[in-house]
Amino acid sequence: MSKKGLIIAIDGPAAVGKSTIGKLIAQKLGFLYIDTGAIYRAITWKVLKNNLSVNNEDLISMLVSKTQIKINRVSSNSLKDYYHIFIDGKDVTEEIRDPKIDQNVSQIAKLPKIRKQLISLQKKLAKEGNIIMEGRDIGSVILPYADIKLYFIASEEERTKRRYKELTAKGYKIDYKEVKKQIMKRDEIDSQRKYAPLTKAENAVLIDSTEKTIEEVKNEILKIIKKYKENGKK
Ligand code: CDP
Repeated sequence: MSKKGLIIAIDGPAAVGKSTIGKLIAQKLGFLYIDTGAIYRAITWKVLKNNLSVNNEDLISMLVSKTQIKINRVSSNSLKDYYHIFIDGKDVTEEIRDPKIDQNVSQIAKLPKIRKQLISLQKKLAKEGNIIMEGRDIGSVILPYADIKLYFIASEEERTKRRYKELTAKGYKIDYKEVKKQIMKRDEIDSQRKYAPLTKAENAVLIDSTEKTIEEVKNEILKIIKKYKENGKK
């Protein structure tokens, strides 16, 4: 374990359940939880609000340098409020889940300048330890020294079902096929970009959640953490 407390990195493709499980484990252990996807989503929210082109790297980079991003735990008891993200003081936790953000976020997240700007923020957030950070490049680029690295997978169909259910429950009128298309498209852009692509770090443990309940995945990970704490390794 690192001197400053446990560091857990979770990576994996879109809608694989990283946030659901990550938050549950963080709450159980009293850890800080950082969803780095929310940071890219918040930037995308601001880019769209300012009517900037998602390809204009220089303008977006300028916008990022003038943007304040804050992450706060609003309540430790409620999972929904375990993690809120603020951009220039505005709480955008809910708004960044809009399908419009899904359609644009990967275009912005692939821009090297933007990723470089956001790396130091993410590294800084992890420095105290006792943290779960999730995203696409956490185990590989942001926290390569993480104590425990997990890589989540689930079938395309299962991931589409989960995201479709989530979005329709929130009242979005969206087509199942469209949800699937967006997930696949994002995965393709995220894994094929040159700079810090979605990848399984060499020493990450693979977690396939396709046929497992949330409780089962949670327990599987708690076991990995317990073993790590007992042996000092996975
Ligand atoms: O929740 P979901 O799995 O749909 O996505 P997310 O984790 O909120 O991430 C949204 C998008 O941000 C991803 O599709 C990536 O384009 C980008 N992202 C990234 O590039 N690097 C990260 N570490 C996290 C997210």
